[in-house]
Amino acid sequence: MRIITLILLFLSFHGFCQSNSNDYYNETHRPQFHFTPESKWMNDPNGLVYYKGKYHLFYQYYPKDIVWGPMHWGHASSIDLFNWEHHPIALYPDKLGNIFSGCAVIDKKNTAGFGKNAMIAIFTYHNDELWKQGYRNTESQAIAYSLDEGLTWTKYSGNPVIKNSSERDFRDPNVFWNDEINAWNMVLASGDRVKIFSSDNLKDWKYKSDFKPNPNISKTGTWECVDLFKMKVKGDEKEKWVMIVNHDKYTPNGGSGTRYFIGDFDGEVFKNVQPSIWLDYGTDYYAGVTFYNAPKNKRILISWMSNWLYAQKTPTRIWRSAMTLPRELVLEKNDDGYFLRQNISEGFDDILDETQSKDEIQLPYSAKKINLSQAEISFNFEGKQMSLLLSNSKNEKLKLELNNRIFSLDRSQSGITNFSDKFAESLQKMPIDEKITDFQIILDRASIEILINNGKYSMTAIFFPKEPFSNLEMESIENAQITNFRMNNVKKTW
Ligand code: FRU
Repeated sequence: MRIITLILLFLSFHGFCQSNSNDYYNETHRPQFHFTPESKWMNDPNGLVYYKGKYHLFYQYYPKDIVWGPMHWGHASSIDLFNWEHHPIALYPDKLGNIFSGCAVIDKKNTAGFGKNAMIAIFTYHNDELWKQGYRNTESQAIAYSLDEGLTWTKYSGNPVIKNSSERDFRDPNVFWNDEINAWNMVLASGDRVKIFSSDNLKDWKYKSDFKPNPNISKTGTWECVDLFKMKVKGDEKEKWVMIVNHDKYTPNGGSGTRYFIGDFDGEVFKNVQPSIWLDYGTDYYAGVTFYNAPKNKRILISWMSNWLYAQKTPTRIWRSAMTLPRELVLEKNDDGYFLRQNISEGFDDILDETQSKDEIQLPYSAKKINLSQAEISFNFEGKQMSLLLSNSKNEKLKLELNNRIFSLDRSQSGITNFSDKFAESLQKMPIDEKITDFQIILDRASIEILINNGKYSMTAIFFPKEPFSNLEMESIENAQITNFRMNNVKKTW
């Protein structure tokens, strides 16, 4: 009897810790409404897929340490993209290798024969044993399926489905069903290009073409985590294809970065119709890919909110790194060409507590002792110059500034920065090539996501203050106008 009571006590205490305790997800710098693993290391989002009312997020995960190690796929799911439920690890390394990034699809027509509506993961095996022996072509593509909404997985016995012949970097497959050719397509990052394949059954793949941009980009580093999808152009009957590519260097502010191409695709060859555009100018927005099968044809993107330059050294101990908020992409066209806007996904409003809204505020503006730890600030803007300072009583500060169409972020005095000399090396800058109309700024303890002009320009960065920011000061050297000012607290979702 005693033992049973003890077990019950333990179970209820454990349950209590998981969901109700104020200590849960409350360590210093722990994001309160962004996705983080409960513990240990995380990098890229993987296998983003919507199925039976839930968004599934798999992710690069090393369960034994807070630095990168032999990769697994962690797993979580969410109904609204803001409240997440953790699930057991989905994919473990095996003798073919560690489980690198990839995607997941729903096989509605049972083309692979694993079952109608099987969830199928397509991922890269990275074979460390061969790598240690000096081989460099150690990456191959493989598949696994789940018949229980991603909870348990069976790897296909015929893996790998695409062997590597000679390339060193040959990874991060992204697969989609293409109605136009009645078959699957795969895009795969390979060195400084994207390789395109097609298949009837996800097991037998035919190589179709290499995508290299035209005009060529002289320096791109390694291409990683690619995505290709068709979108309707807003306000137009036209459709265009969007190709997302991540690069490990030669990005606007150093290290990891994400760019996109707009073009045409016939199931075999992708051709860009204009030069690429950076999807985000901050240092902490990488490996971004979109959900497969999302409702109403939505394109919702999540990125890893860190940078390989210092990701493994950031000052957290229990877990390391977070994902960006989910962002819905909208494709538009103006006289300069096509471009994407990113809007925080629908449902964000449900986790907001409105605290202040003003039709207009006068500059200089100052608000002290306010909660800037979990906040959303948005306003309309007219002018050319403005600075916005977040600070705390330790005189740590994060400075945003607009100077004639150059927007900049300075985190050099934002708190703990000495874990890497790359972290606050220079100002982060973003050129803005049109009149600025509005800002949305989202703060979650250790991150800032800035969206300008209804999400056309985006800057994402992390920082580690020793005490939460609690003062907001805004000023302008000219007569800038700020209207429709709104400042909300954002609720904890953990
Ligand atoms: C990108 C990346 C991928 C790779 C994975 C390994 O951050 O380097 O190219 O699959 O991380 O964890």
